[in-house]
Amino acid sequence: MSLHSTVVIVDYGSQYTQLIARRVREVGIYSFILPADATLERIKSCEPGAIILSGGPSSVYDSDAPELPAGFVEYQAAEKVPVLGVCYGMQLLARALGGEVEKAKVREYGRMIVNGTPGSALGLASEFQAWMSHGDETKKVPPGFGLVAKSSSGSFAAMENPAAKIYGLQFHPEVTHTEGGQAVLKKFLLELAGIKADWSMKNVLEEQIEIIRAKVGETAHVICALSGGVDSAVAATLVHRAIGDRLHCVFVDNGLLRFEEQSRVMTLFKERLHLPVTCVDAEERFLGLLAGVADPETKRKIIGGEFIRIFDEQALRVSRELGHLPEFLVQGTLYPDVIESSPAPGSSGSGGELGGGRKHSAKIKSHHNVGGLPKDMRFQLIEPLRDLFKDEVRELGKQLGVPVEFLQRHPFPGPGLAVRMIGDITKENLDTLRAVDEIFINEIREAGLYHEIWQAMAIFLPIRTVGVQGDGRTHDHVVALRAVTSSDGMTADWYAFEPKFLSRVSSRICNEVRGVSRVVYDISSKPPATIEWE
Ligand code: XMP
Repeated sequence: MSLHSTVVIVDYGSQYTQLIARRVREVGIYSFILPADATLERIKSCEPGAIILSGGPSSVYDSDAPELPAGFVEYQAAEKVPVLGVCYGMQLLARALGGEVEKAKVREYGRMIVNGTPGSALGLASEFQAWMSHGDETKKVPPGFGLVAKSSSGSFAAMENPAAKIYGLQFHPEVTHTEGGQAVLKKFLLELAGIKADWSMKNVLEEQIEIIRAKVGETAHVICALSGGVDSAVAATLVHRAIGDRLHCVFVDNGLLRFEEQSRVMTLFKERLHLPVTCVDAEERFLGLLAGVADPETKRKIIGGEFIRIFDEQALRVSRELGHLPEFLVQGTLYPDVIESSPAPGSSGSGGELGGGRKHSAKIKSHHNVGGLPKDMRFQLIEPLRDLFKDEVRELGKQLGVPVEFLQRHPFPGPGLAVRMIGDITKENLDTLRAVDEIFINEIREAGLYHEIWQAMAIFLPIRTVGVQGDGRTHDHVVALRAVTSSDGMTADWYAFEPKFLSRVSSRICNEVRGVSRVVYDISSKPPATIEWE
């Protein structure tokens, strides 16, 4: 028996599936995404309090369009499990239950006005703005269903059969552009499905402590690599709460960290979080290996490989102290990394959403983080954040007493400043880059903009330009500044600072950082650029 209620979301390939999962959790109910080809048995094994069928890019009439799981209609009818179909999900239900779906005369993409029927079980307003993204539409609702909303262009926007506990929305309630979207989801989950909102980070904390204790037992030891980022710090703090000093943390200073980062994070780990952590000063090793290397991918490979070697050595050190190798390894893996997503179904589909589906993207960069640990070490894994989204990890961190300023820090890449220094990496230039970065970030904080920005950074360019300082000619370095807004790092917009702000930052950098006489600001979005320069 699960300790909390669960909503299963079947993923038909929508770009918004994860958003549905997050919205359900915002109501205080645990949600879990399953791929479109999950069997009915798999769905049942989650003991769902309700099932949501997501949108997707297919048309229900495509030959390869994903279907409802075999036996779904019979199971739902017998058990009366509440079901909500969104967009493609509604069309699947309409067709399976005896309604009709057709190619729409007018495709609806973007904001549309929708008119709800007063008194609908879903509680739809008589007029509201909703986000649509579909090329097919339901033309006839199945027997027993009421049509409870139409869009201003006349297409069917919602249907319901409260007796059967089945509901369908053609619009996307999970998207913030839909007015009252979250209220409709809440109504479905709490009132129509009658699910208890029993998912909170306080419960997760207690539950995870029990799970970790049961898994590790009374005597085993656990090793953890701290990156200085939020996920590994929260995971380690949680494990420490469960098993105390049988946890052994390692923090590797690769010489590619930000200004005074080593002392800042070590103070946090030791003095605030009381984690048993060993700091490995490996600047010389990394910079030695990186000397003369300009190719970004080679840099990343060197850093990833050396990190693994050092972690290996540290595991051996711990095992010498203990007399045996630690049995477990903690990783700060998050839910978005483990969601088993639907393959892009019927990519030519005309029915569903624009831009949906999971495309296998080309490799842009080989990402490195502390997740990529030794393959040949036989550790059992502890991944206490596997079920959580980033915002939930922050909330859990708060419950564990991790300072809020730390939890809300901008992301920082595993290979550190190496991917922000174009061309050769030298200690001297790294120090310059650190000083520039520190000024930029502090100015952003002082202007109260830190939390509006997803990530801000300085980049060291391998060129010198002519300048004039005092009365003399200089031939000094150029640095670039970059700040972006984003919700998940997949796409990003450059941040439009006030010119006054940029001018203050630029003059501080040129006055305070020796060797820099020119500052440029990066105005590229992602795509076509990436967030990091390398
Ligand atoms: P890009 O540059 O690919 O970055 O647009 C997207 C986000 O990922 C971060 N990033 C990394 N994070 N290891 C990490 O842990 C890496 O190798 C890595 N490379 C990029 C980047 O900072 C941004 O937040």
